[in-house]
Amino acid sequence: MIKKEKDIYILGIETSCDETAASIVRNGRTVLSNVVSTQIEIHMKYGGVVPEIASRKHVESIIPVIDCALNEANINKNDIDAIAVTYGPGLVGALLVGVSAAKAMAFALKKPLIGVNHIEGHIAANYISHQDLEPPFVCLVVSGGHSHIVHVKGYRDFEILGRTRDDAAGEAFDKIARILGIGYPGGPQIDKRAVIGKNLIKFPEVHFNDETFDFSFSGVKTSVMNYVNREKQKGQEIDINDVCASFQNAVTNVLVENTFKAAQTRNVDTVVIAGGVAANQGLRQKMEQSGIKRGIKVFYPPILLCTDNAVMIGAAGYYELISGVYQKGLELNAVPGLKIGVR
Ligand code: KG4
Ligand code: ZN
Repeated sequence: MIKKEKDIYILGIETSCDETAASIVRNGRTVLSNVVSTQIEIHMKYGGVVPEIASRKHVESIIPVIDCALNEANINKNDIDAIAVTYGPGLVGALLVGVSAAKAMAFALKKPLIGVNHIEGHIAANYISHQDLEPPFVCLVVSGGHSHIVHVKGYRDFEILGRTRDDAAGEAFDKIARILGIGYPGGPQIDKRAVIGKNLIKFPEVHFNDETFDFSFSGVKTSVMNYVNREKQKGQEIDINDVCASFQNAVTNVLVENTFKAAQTRNVDTVVIAGGVAANQGLRQKMEQSGIKRGIKVFYPPILLCTDNAVMIGAAGYYELISGVYQKGLELNAVPGLKIGVR
C-alpha cells in the first residue's frame, strides 16, 4: 500500500474510441487539466466511427494532447507520480495508441503504469464532480458501447446487476437518429428534439420477468423503424420531434425503473449515472424525480465528464495506484473486450 504522504499527480490517457484525451488529476478528485481532441467531425460523414481512421487520428493527436495536458496543468512530466491509461474495452487499434504512448512515457520517466477499465473510468467521473461521493452506490453506466447497472461496493469492487442483452443505450440513440436522418452522434440530437416534441407514440418498454435487471433495446429500435416506414407508406408527414420524445421516453423509463429496482435490492441510499447517455436531459430529470420520490440521492457528472475524457481515467487510476495491487506494468496490452471488475 502506498502511503499518502504527499499529493499524488496522475497523467490520465484515453483513446478507446474517437476521442484523444489526456488529463492531470490530483489525488483522484481535483482536475488540473482536461484536454479532449474529438474526431466526431471526421466520422460524421460516415454515420459512425471508422476504426482505421480513428487509430490514425489518435496517432496524430496523442503527443500534442499529452503536451497540452502537462502545460495546462503547469506540471513537469518528471513530477507526475503515475500514468493511467485506458486498456479496454474499446477499439483495439485505438486503444493501442494510448497504451503504447503511456508505456513509452512510463518507461522513459521510470513511473508506474496503470491500466484502467474505460467503464470503471466513466463511474469514477462522479468522484470528480461530487467530492464527497464514496461507495457503496448503484451506478447506471450507459454509453455508446455499453449499458450496465453496477453495484459499486468499493472503489475497485464491482458487481454487475444488469446489462443490455443486445444494443447499448447510446447505440440505440445513434441508430434511431440515423433512421430519422438527423445526424451523428444521435444522442445529443434526439435529446434536443425530445424537448420540443410530444410523447404521443407508444413504443415498447422491455422488462424481463427474471431476477436480472437486464435491458433490451432492439425491440424499441425495430418499432420506431416500422413506425417511420408505415407513416411514409401512408404518405403521412412524420413529426421527427414527437418520434424523438416518444423513443427517449420509452428508453429512459426502462433505464430509470431498472436502476432503482436494482438499488432497492442492494439497500443503497445513492444512485449515480455515468457514460455518454448520462448527458441526456430527459434521463437526468427522470432520475432526479424518481430519486426524490424514493428518498434516494441521485448524482451525475457535468456533460463534459459524461462523454469520453481522460479526467475519469486519472480518477480511476488514482484508486488503482493507492490500492497498491494494480497489476499492469510494462507488459500491459489492449483488451478490446475487457469486463468490468476484472483485474
Ligand atoms: O461514453 P461515450 O462518450 O463513448 C462510449 O464509451 O461509447 O458515449 C457516446 C454515446 C453515443 O452513443 C452518444 O449518442 C451518446 O453517448 N450520447 C447521448 C447524449 N450525449 C451523448 N445520448 C443521449 N443523450 C445525450 N445528450
Ligand atoms: Zn465511454
